[in-house]
Amino acid sequence: MDAVRIYGGNCLKGQTKIQGSKNASLPILAATLLIDGTCEITNCPDISDVYHMLRLLESLGCVVSREADMLRVDTRGIAECDMPADSVGVMRSSIMLLGALLARMGEITMEYPGGCVIGKRPIDQHLQALRRMGVEISEEPEEFCAKAGRLHGAVHELPFVSVGVTENLVLAAVLAEGETVIHPAAREPEIQALCDFLVSAGGKIKGAGTDRLVIEGVKKLHPVRFRVPADRIVAGTWLAACLCAGGSVFLEDAPCGQMESVLACAEKLGARLRRLPEGLHVEGRACKGLKEDLVTAVYPGFPTDLQSLFMAAIAFSGQDGRIEETVFENRFRIVPELEKMGADIRVEGNRAYVRGGRKLRNTIVEAKELRGGAALVVAALAAEGTGIVTNRHFIDRGYEDIARSLRDLGAEIELA
Ligand code: EPZ
Repeated sequence: MDAVRIYGGNCLKGQTKIQGSKNASLPILAATLLIDGTCEITNCPDISDVYHMLRLLESLGCVVSREADMLRVDTRGIAECDMPADSVGVMRSSIMLLGALLARMGEITMEYPGGCVIGKRPIDQHLQALRRMGVEISEEPEEFCAKAGRLHGAVHELPFVSVGVTENLVLAAVLAEGETVIHPAAREPEIQALCDFLVSAGGKIKGAGTDRLVIEGVKKLHPVRFRVPADRIVAGTWLAACLCAGGSVFLEDAPCGQMESVLACAEKLGARLRRLPEGLHVEGRACKGLKEDLVTAVYPGFPTDLQSLFMAAIAFSGQDGRIEETVFENRFRIVPELEKMGADIRVEGNRAYVRGGRKLRNTIVEAKELRGGAALVVAALAAEGTGIVTNRHFIDRGYEDIARSLRDLGAEIELA
């Protein structure tokens, strides 16, 4: 079955190593298209979104090989060909191939990228910004065609912060003619990792990690070996598991410096944390109420990707809690599923009011998207009885093996 079975009600005890970051790996793999030769990417997670990205690269003529955690991408064979629709339609990250492909090949026809049910995920800002760099884009109902000679730099004063738009513009600008300014740029650690990769390959990028990026186009980049940083959202997922079920766990490689807003929230909920150079030690469970709303925001604010996970933690804290989702318009998809387990959560627009003191019992629940699916597995660890979470394929998009990682932490869980 495409599911996970969880025997709930046990405390966690153990340690697990945090995988490489999905949201850093994907733009870095797209960036290899800008480099004529073979790049070596280590610590790239073995997840389905990466698998689809590698298929897209192969469909363009790249040769991809994986030996243990070393991925080699040889782009010397890039030819003129369309990307397979079954991969493009499956995930959002294909849109960031646009900037890289225009820089490398000058033309691309692409279906509108897919995504999950958390929001309509438009790409209007991507297309408007690329037009400012000399890209001609003709839009059809199902697909669009983008053409450009050598891209030229531009000053982008963006209407709001977008991770994907920032990434696409960095990829389009690094080989463009002249200077490109991006403001406000996203400050997520995944953007920093992408900039680190490109600078190591000879790119000229200033301001990584700030809200103003200045990129001086260069003529050529050279192949590099690069290590993908650990995934802060996966680390936050296992932190939330301990908040729900209680216990004592060590998260090896957890990037504590990139998680301050999350760690602060976990401590307010009652967890005792030790931030160590080699990872994060977590003791205890969520047992206190948050005095103020949990509000998601762009980095360094509380990440929207951990909102569902912390909703589950609040549901088990015994206290009331209020959540405001400010990034996506439909990111409370797990509420009906948590209510099947006995939770009492009222949704009003982009706010959710979680009533505490409810005993949650396991049952069969349905994952509707990646992080909500992970949150249901985490909730099942703490609920009474045996639970099933279906549609595991959503979870496999971002987690190498959620059952194995949680078994490392002492959970009774198996693929079903
Ligand atoms: C990235 O998505 C991540 N995905 C998401 O992670 C993450 O939730 C999101 O950033 C926010 O941090 C990857 O990195 C592959 P945005 P992205 O552009 O780039 C709107 C996960 O679970 N918008 O910052 O798509 C958009 O609809 C995934 O790993 C436009 O309106 O996010 C959203 O409301 C889920 N027009 C807001 O901006 C555009 O042209 C922020 O989205 C582009 C975006």
